[in-house]
Amino acid sequence: MGKVYVFDHPLIQHKLTHIRQIETGTKDFRELVDEVATLMAFEITRDLPLEEIDIETPVSPAKGKILSGKKLAIVPILRAGIGMVDGILKLIPAAKVGHVGLYRDPETLKPIEYYVKLPSDVEERDFILVDPMLATGGSAVEAINSLKKRGAKSIKFLCLVAAPEGVEEIQRHHEDVDIYIAALDEKLNEKGYIVPGLGDAGDRLFGTK
Ligand code: PRP
Ligand code: URA
Repeated sequence: MGKVYVFDHPLIQHKLTHIRQIETGTKDFRELVDEVATLMAFEITRDLPLEEIDIETPVSPAKGKILSGKKLAIVPILRAGIGMVDGILKLIPAAKVGHVGLYRDPETLKPIEYYVKLPSDVEERDFILVDPMLATGGSAVEAINSLKKRGAKSIKFLCLVAAPEGVEEIQRHHEDVDIYIAALDEKLNEKGYIVPGLGDAGDRLFGTK
């Protein structure tokens, strides 16, 4: 079964509290999501492989460690995942960016796919799939299906706020996918919103509604 990592770093928790607050407006919401995404990228890249190289410092020859050229791809689930991309790219600027477009039908809560564009060398890349919200898990499961169908072999799922139902749904369908979250919330309400959650992530990011 895929592992679940909850990032309890104080900076992540502090910023997430402001993201949740109803009085936080679109500009601050967007900036905070961007900042938390950067902090989460720092944690999620902990296991990137390194290689040793010979360098010269101003004082002497030395051994240095650099990233060993692992190919990464970030894939936001549209729309709200877009809010996390730049924050991650600040730390791993060489990553390619794909997109999976899905929305939840408001009646059935089932995901509907409307767009997919991935880097061409899918099989060689490690994917970080990003979406601020993991609610029923339908969107994440469908997005992972979409990546795997196109050849993706290694996928991590990164989100801000998850409901237990969503975590279980990913674990049930995709036991090879680890989940990285800033907070595991209590439950879903009757409309499929995470409680306490942060509301509609897409609307709060883009000022719609
Ligand atoms: C939100 C959110 C996730 C999805 C999570 O997107 O960004 O993609 O809901 O819900 P689930 O786990 O129950 O599938 P939404 O469908 O509102 O689309 P949007 O980002 O275009 O607003
Ligand atoms: N999508 C959101 O944006 N928020 C939720 O609470 C659930 C799904």
